[in-house]
Amino acid sequence: MPDVASDATSLERRVDALRRAIEKHNYDYYILDQPTATDAEYDALLRELREIEAAHPELVSPESPTQRVGIAPQGKFNQIRHPLPMLSLSNVYNRADLDAWAARLARNLPGARFTFVSEPKIDGLAVALTYVDGVMQRGATRGDGLTGEDVTANLRTIRNLPLRLMSENETTIPRLIEVRGEVFMRQADFEKLNEQILADGGRPFMNPRNAAAGSLRQLDPTITARRPLRLLAYGIGYAEGGAPIAFHTEALDALRQFGFQTSLDAAVDDSIDGVWSRCEWWLNRRASLGFEIDGVVIKVNDLRQQEELGFVSREPRWATAFKFPATQQTTRVNDIVVNVGRTGALTPLAMLEAVNIGGVIVSRATLHNEDEIRRKDIRIGDIVVVQRAGDVIPQVVQVLLERRTGDEREFEMPANCPACGSPTHRAEGEAARYCTNSACPAQLKRHVHHFVSRAAMDIEGLGEKLADRFVDLGMIRDLGDIYSLDWRAIAELEGLGEISAHNLRVAVEASKQRPLERLIFGLGIPFVGERSSRLLADRFHSLDNLIASDVETIDSVPGIGPVQAQGVFDFLHTPENLAVIEKLRSAGVRTVDDDAGDGPASGPLAGKSVVVTGRLAEMTRSEAEAALRRSGANVAGSVSRNTAVVFAGEDPGSKAERARELGVPVLGEQELKDVLGGAPLPNGKDQST
Ligand code: IVH
Repeated sequence: MPDVASDATSLERRVDALRRAIEKHNYDYYILDQPTATDAEYDALLRELREIEAAHPELVSPESPTQRVGIAPQGKFNQIRHPLPMLSLSNVYNRADLDAWAARLARNLPGARFTFVSEPKIDGLAVALTYVDGVMQRGATRGDGLTGEDVTANLRTIRNLPLRLMSENETTIPRLIEVRGEVFMRQADFEKLNEQILADGGRPFMNPRNAAAGSLRQLDPTITARRPLRLLAYGIGYAEGGAPIAFHTEALDALRQFGFQTSLDAAVDDSIDGVWSRCEWWLNRRASLGFEIDGVVIKVNDLRQQEELGFVSREPRWATAFKFPATQQTTRVNDIVVNVGRTGALTPLAMLEAVNIGGVIVSRATLHNEDEIRRKDIRIGDIVVVQRAGDVIPQVVQVLLERRTGDEREFEMPANCPACGSPTHRAEGEAARYCTNSACPAQLKRHVHHFVSRAAMDIEGLGEKLADRFVDLGMIRDLGDIYSLDWRAIAELEGLGEISAHNLRVAVEASKQRPLERLIFGLGIPFVGERSSRLLADRFHSLDNLIASDVETIDSVPGIGPVQAQGVFDFLHTPENLAVIEKLRSAGVRTVDDDAGDGPASGPLAGKSVVVTGRLAEMTRSEAEAALRRSGANVAGSVSRNTAVVFAGEDPGSKAERARELGVPVLGEQELKDVLGGAPLPNGKDQST
């Protein structure tokens, strides 16, 4: 029956076309990171393939993309003996080690010239994948290098692992090939997975490596299928048939053509100087790669040389790993103490048995807040994993529960401030607990540290220790006291003397002339950093202008958000803060901008609150506002009962209307120019009342 036969072949052809299209889309998506199909298109292809396979079970084959999750959960993994042992690598930790490795190469192959390939050393777990006639048959973990576990079913669920090798030319596909690579998890995927595990009440993984290993060693492949695993191929174990390969770089090219993700940044150098700069290059990029690497693998490129160099014990002579410093270590929590910050927030700190993490001695780690301690179940006496990545503050990643002895003590946040004894309070919906005493010496100390710091008033010689001493002695009770210190008493303090006291006094005097933005920053207004301080100084030119402004006006400064604006307003309307500002001012600390001056203390506009609205013909609104400020006016963003006058240009809109409602005089551009020129305010509010 010729009709049926041709139907069958056309169906087979359709199935083949669908599988290839799906594989191509997988490749574009997972390997090239450049999707070429929409999710809907991809789903339609997969659906059609599933439907055909369901109706024609004889067409199903293991390498079909529908068969990634194939078999039922297993009781255990079978052991697989590796036909070719999976070796480990020798390590080098610095340039001298690397030079010594290269010198050994030269001794072993006298007169040879070498080129080297440097690749990132992905921190995951090694696997070996066997393909027969281009179809994946088997996959195993490294195990002890000689025998691994058969994790074929789990490996098949990894989306960027080709179940069938791709090729532009079928003749290049070897009859048999063992591909070696690393199964790993990207940082972002790892974090998402942990969040999900936490939300489900589970125990999160310690790092991406553990997450990858734990996911690959699931007995139920449907669980592995839901884990965001990836594969990166870094070499060929052995091969029969296919195009001949003479260099490691050719092996990487072939793997790429077969549809594997390989390290695109593998680089070739013919000198150790070149190799060393690659190592430094990777070390510098370590934190920004999006996945964890623990070093750089350096391989001799020429496979014949590799063969000649051979092995010592279980390590090849032809490769080595430049190992990066570790970012995690285990150590003991000796105590948990509580620190009181500038805002009064209580921060628990783990006091650790000192450990060296990547060359830095770590003896404390932040625990953030009480919820965090509870979530991670950190107790005094616990053995914990501590992480220090780049410049971030060391963190406790996890408690090693299996190391508990039963002598550990649970920690409670104190009901009273450890610095001043006042009650602490944790508001609903807030993670932090606060000291309720605004005069708390711990808060004051942090305020002083901040105020005198380099980015703020930059008082050289007034370090944290000395500042704390002044606070403890009662010489500094608020920031204003810094400018009325008793220098004679200071000169008599232990360890100071006349000269130190004199130098400190000079530094304190000099700080009175710091620009306004530094003063605003130094005041320690919640949420106001250096950048916001500059924006506020640029806009208001004096502390008085800022104090006189309403929330809307502060909020209207580009770059200042509503929360900040409210914070600034509240801070500048708290009597204690205003008292401090008054003290600073009377001590001679500059509270006005360089070019602004305090504005004339007299004149028609001095101290008046004014609003500019609408389009002006001869100047921009901000020019007008700047000129008004220079004349001593406080320029506000909205009209209120306190507004003395509104200057309106074209299309003034609602502000002018509001002014009329409130009986606030509205003047035009000509009057604005007259007033700026020194003319009295016509119809000014003061005159009308
Ligand atoms: S080559 C004979 N290349 O590092 C050398 N290994 O200790 C075989 N690894 O177990 C290894 N990235 O899991 C090689 N680009 C890379 C690698 C890499 C990570 C792992 C691999 C191996 C371990 C060596």
